[in-house]
Amino acid sequence: MARTILLGVTGGIAVYKSVSLVSLLKKRGYDVVVVMTRGAERFVTPLLFQTMSRERVYSDPFEEADPSGIAHIDVADRADLVVVAPATANVIAKLAHGIADDMLSTVLLAATAPVMIAPAMNVHMYRHPAVQANLALLTARGYHFLEPDEGPLACGYTGKGRMMEPEAIVEAIEDYFSGRLVLASPNPDPLLAVRRREKAGERVPMADVDVPSPAPGAGVPSLQAVHDAPLSGRRVVVTAGPTREAIDPVRFLSNRSSGKMGYALAAAARRLGAEVVLITGPTNLPPPEGVKVVRVERAREMHAAVMRERETFDWFIAAAAVSDYEPAVVEAQKIKKSGEALTLMLVPTPDILRDVGQRKKPHQTVVGFAAETNDVVEHARNKRRRKGADWIVANDVTEPGAGFEVETNRVVLVGPNDALYPLPLMSKEDLAETIIRTILAFQSMPPAEDAGGEKTSGERSIDEERAGKGRTGGDAR
Ligand code: PMT
Repeated sequence: MARTILLGVTGGIAVYKSVSLVSLLKKRGYDVVVVMTRGAERFVTPLLFQTMSRERVYSDPFEEADPSGIAHIDVADRADLVVVAPATANVIAKLAHGIADDMLSTVLLAATAPVMIAPAMNVHMYRHPAVQANLALLTARGYHFLEPDEGPLACGYTGKGRMMEPEAIVEAIEDYFSGRLVLASPNPDPLLAVRRREKAGERVPMADVDVPSPAPGAGVPSLQAVHDAPLSGRRVVVTAGPTREAIDPVRFLSNRSSGKMGYALAAAARRLGAEVVLITGPTNLPPPEGVKVVRVERAREMHAAVMRERETFDWFIAAAAVSDYEPAVVEAQKIKKSGEALTLMLVPTPDILRDVGQRKKPHQTVVGFAAETNDVVEHARNKRRRKGADWIVANDVTEPGAGFEVETNRVVLVGPNDALYPLPLMSKEDLAETIIRTILAFQSMPPAEDAGGEKTSGERSIDEERAGKGRTGGDAR
């Protein structure tokens, strides 16, 4: 059965892009139901969207064409996914504060499907603290933002505020339906499937209706969480898990990484407001909510997936345990036991962290890991320099409760100027957030007066930095 996209269209010059969005979605076999605001109708007529979508277009909450239903509820219930494109500052504010004063804002409160929002507005409006606070609040509630692009705007300015291109929106939609992008509804209805079956005339057995309802308030983030989205507007790419390098059709080289550390980092970045892409080797972990997941096996596949994201990320966190070598030849048939010693020729894999670190742009933050068994800090410091990373998370994997597979970890952060920030043993979830917050705290400190080249040694804590010893330049972020 075709999936139904409920497309909310608000009043902005980017409405013309929504027309091609409908056309692209129809070509891919989606049903598209358009709900327009009065502002959108000033730009294009409902007839245009009706002709493109072959569906009734909704804009007036008091127009009840079908006496057997209630239009704004029926439309909301049909949606498998809601997309608001373009989304003005006005509709974002209304949704953030629960205002329902027209058809679209009413439908958005009634909808129980996941919601994607593609903002489009003037760069100053987009940057306004009120708009950013509303975006942070909606992000914390589980709404998924399709970041506006930078470029020339209709108002004559150049900056961030252009609605994402329709092709990219379609890609995000397809990522969602193919399971690559995991989204939860901000307002789920566990009985929606049952209601739909009843609407279709089916008598649903009681056993199917017995779905536990979420506790009141469950899933509603704390006020602190809502106002605490320091990575809002940033794109974070995380690698996680092991890689597998095939020897023959049944055997491979791999390592003990479970993916827990990397998945925890992806979830933490998302919680802190970022748009997150998780590029993962094979693991048994459920994908974190709200995160786009790209699955790979080999180191060179992970390398290619990361390179595709290289231009657009603000942070890159390399937590994957990537194989340093791969077999020179992958045998087409299973290697037979001969009883003799077997020599495997191994060749180096591409170094993902180094290729990213050495070409990073000034605004990008690159964080690598170092899994070590001896001289941990020294190796980590060398790795930071060699690979061009801003930060290395030094991980002594021989320590009890740390490293591979376990639920906890203990690390030392090696930052700009080789400064050390040791963190205590904690759960990988807490550690992930602490790593990100520590780096953010460092980045928010004003550069020291004597900014110059990187110093080569010295162990300082964040408190010491704050006390005046300060950050000493060279940290291109
Ligand atoms: O997954 P878990 O079970 O939770 O375990 C967590 C962990 C131990 C895997 C994690 O905390 C960790 O230490 N990850 C890095 C493991 C590793 O490969 O370290 P390394 O020192 O070999 O590599 C240094 C850095 O270069 C890493 O950021 C690695 O992702 C990167 N690298 C390595 C090789 C390669 N070909 N390309 C890379 O990008």
